[in-house]
Amino acid sequence: MNAPAPKDERITLSAEEFDALAAIVHEVSGIVVSAGKSSMVHSRLWKRLRALGKSDYSSYIAHLRSPEGVEERRHLVSALTTNVTGFFRENHHFETLRDQVLPPLLARARAGGRVRLWSAGCSTGAEAYSMAITIAQTAPDFANYDIRILATDIDPLMVAHGKEARFDLNAVAGLSEDLRTQFLIPAENDFQIIPALRSLVQFRELNLHDAWPMSGGFDVIFCRNVVIYFTPEARMRLWTRFESKLAPGGWMFMGHSERIPDLTQTRLDPAGITAYRLRAEDAATKATQCL
Ligand SMILES: C[S@@+](CC[C@H](N)C(=O)[O-])C[C@H]1O[C@@H](n2cnc3c(N)ncnc32)[C@H](O)[C@@H]1O
Repeated sequence: MNAPAPKDERITLSAEEFDALAAIVHEVSGIVVSAGKSSMVHSRLWKRLRALGKSDYSSYIAHLRSPEGVEERRHLVSALTTNVTGFFRENHHFETLRDQVLPPLLARARAGGRVRLWSAGCSTGAEAYSMAITIAQTAPDFANYDIRILATDIDPLMVAHGKEARFDLNAVAGLSEDLRTQFLIPAENDFQIIPALRSLVQFRELNLHDAWPMSGGFDVIFCRNVVIYFTPEARMRLWTRFESKLAPGGWMFMGHSERIPDLTQTRLDPAGITAYRLRAEDAATKATQCL
């Protein structure tokens, strides 16, 4: 393995430049880069300056702010997002999915209905493929029905990773031998998800703070370990938007340290550990309004 390239000591990041970068990242992604992360920011970004032939941060920042900087703003966010994820991370959610959520949804699918799930802030795709594996385990005939998982992320590199569906040994270490045999194809240095599961998942680049182009509601939304990086106001705005995207009776799952602070302001009821469901009477009202 190659040793990491040494940092270019001639390039330094001043406090003002850090603040300017943090402001751009917040404006583009909603992510709050807290003070004290200056050396992390520098260690992740100096190679971008090199790639663009910039010798200091002030000209990099000017580029980011210019109309030509659109593409670089995507690289910036990509470099500074945290993409930690894993198969069956917070496994209790997948147990709830298997035992409570999927049975009625699969009955609907078998009767000709449509079932939609969304992994919002999907990172490498491990979360979306864990949803797909859970569906395949519960309904091995899933390919016959109108079931789809949408997986979205702001980071184009993560979206490309998800589409590619290749995972190294480390990433699949937590999967049992049985799951690996059923759902992964061993390749030279890694594993690829089997085509049947890949066709269940559609990956798209989407900034959660932008407009959402998807039509129709979702029966299940996973948005886990994403909003922790946003301000409390941005989080609350997102919970409200997710709620409006839930189909009647829909389920919302969030990360272990994420909570909706005031449920009275929502139409969601608690439904397990960091899991919520659209209130039944609201679901009924919504359904009537759709007739
Ligand atoms: C820590 S990972 C969580 C992945 C997965 N949900 C899980 O819990 O394992 C957070 C992901 O959110 C994405 N993200 C951050 N800000 C976002 C935004 N504004 N819109 C969409 N995705 C965002 C990051 O790119 C990253 O892949």
